[in-house]
Amino acid sequence: MAKFDNSFTDELRQRLSLVDVISRRVPLVKKGQNYWGCCPFHNEKTPSFSVSEDKGFYHCFGCGEHGDIISFVMKSENIDFKEAIKELADMAGMKLPEIKQKTREQIEAEENYIQITESATKKYQELLYTESGKHALEYIKKRGFSDEMIKKYRIGYAPKNNIIASMFNNIKHEKLVSTGLVKIGEYGPYDFFRDKLMFPIFNAHNQVVAFSGRSLDGSEPKYINTTDTELFHKRQTIFGFNFARDAIHRANRSIIVEGQIDAIQMQNHGFGETVAPLGTALTEDHIAILCKSNRNIIFCFDGDNAGQKAAVRACTLVLPFLRDNSDVKFAFVTGGKDPDEILKTSGESAMRKIIDNATPLIDFLWETVNKNYLINTPGGRAQAEKYLKDCLSKITDKIFQNEIENEYNNRKFNQWHKWKKTEYTPEIELPDIDIMTTNVIKSIVQTYPEITEKYIDFLTSLNISFDEDVQKTDLSLEDAEKFIISFKLQRYIKKLETEKQVLLSKALSGDEYNSDELNNINNKINEAKEKLELLMDIKK
Ligand code: GTP
Ligand code: MN
Repeated sequence: MAKFDNSFTDELRQRLSLVDVISRRVPLVKKGQNYWGCCPFHNEKTPSFSVSEDKGFYHCFGCGEHGDIISFVMKSENIDFKEAIKELADMAGMKLPEIKQKTREQIEAEENYIQITESATKKYQELLYTESGKHALEYIKKRGFSDEMIKKYRIGYAPKNNIIASMFNNIKHEKLVSTGLVKIGEYGPYDFFRDKLMFPIFNAHNQVVAFSGRSLDGSEPKYINTTDTELFHKRQTIFGFNFARDAIHRANRSIIVEGQIDAIQMQNHGFGETVAPLGTALTEDHIAILCKSNRNIIFCFDGDNAGQKAAVRACTLVLPFLRDNSDVKFAFVTGGKDPDEILKTSGESAMRKIIDNATPLIDFLWETVNKNYLINTPGGRAQAEKYLKDCLSKITDKIFQNEIENEYNNRKFNQWHKWKKTEYTPEIELPDIDIMTTNVIKSIVQTYPEITEKYIDFLTSLNISFDEDVQKTDLSLEDAEKFIISFKLQRYIKKLETEKQVLLSKALSGDEYNSDELNNINNKINEAKEKLELLMDIKK
């Protein structure tokens, strides 16, 4: 049977949610840690089929059926392994890898490759402690590297001359070229790394597969890395991962920093779980590799603009990997420093503070959106919402996605629309009442206690002082009441018209306003006016 690379099926399992895939056929309900439903493999009415997202397994306590995401698809659709993989790969948006068994030549070529890189590493290590590598050794010591650290990370020195190209004179050039250490130029083979401080890059088996060389004379580029080879794919390699793996397991999290020297210094100052991408760009593959250990990641970036941008990118990349128990955070090192410099100048505790104060992904995303869009305009808010929606759609766990959406809806209501309450609902203040009217009201109050009684709330709201004695009114009781009612209606209409004015000016300034609200006010105004006219008619 054709065998798929384990890393491919692992990645399938990482990318897809078992709960999502099973939910397509079996309704599941979360109870405690697991999800439960009626077993699709035997007939039952009460759920005894349990699904563990964390463990990646389902188990039926009724019939004993048990398996993972691949066996579920195989059994539930009665298809074979290959077909199941194909279907899952489609779901995950992954291309099926070409299935090929390694040939004897390939195995031999790989062995050759590792022999060459191993010998080169040893040579570079030796040269660091010779006269030609003196300046490199001085440099790395100045950067705070002890001899033990130099030994552990197998740091070395690539000299100015063609050492590798001449070292293996009984080996075919193409074998050297396959490792990226040697290139063929017009005048024959030459070394790719020259006068560089050499950081070996290890694979999971602690074999050296590539190098990162730092320039020592201030020349650019500051770092050069082995270009991709059969055994080294920069986008899929994480610097320091081989050293960090146990610590990542113990700490139940990983920390990603930007530079490899930062990663080494972090690993040696209490943060063994730290790694770095190679070069500047973080990839989906880097995150997938880390997520195989756990989904708790702290991204640590420079506090500057570039760092912010990189963080946003990392955020987008990590979203598809999020689960409801993931803990992903963003830490920023400010003041133009990097973790290496923080550790050097302020020590481990300062670095720990930065890591401990990292912003959770949900807050980081919210802050980013609020920073990047004009959320005080309807258009800006629409853009922000679209961006958030797009981000959330990347989260495969639908229940979790829903919860985050609710959280954001809450924030939108409380933070984005708060201005509605404060800015646009001022207490409507009506103009003062003129003296003539004031006096009429005063005399009505003096003359007819029953009217005063009936309209006491309205009358006191007018802020007129009824203390002093005034003349009694000539109006009949009926007319006096009509006067008060019509006055009350006029005040009411005036208040509505002021409210309408506020709404209209809001609409004119391009701000959001509620057209239902406007209609409502217009209706009320008309109603009040009709009442007023009716009253006047009766009066006549
Ligand atoms: P040091 O100066 O040695 O401390 O490096 P740094 O890590 O502080 O450098 P910087 O913050 O500029 O870059 C972060 C990481 O980006 C480095 O560790 C390298 O992996 C990578 N990088 C920086 N400059 C270059 C470059 O010129 N070419 C490539 N390929 N990668 C680079
Ligand atoms: Mn640095």
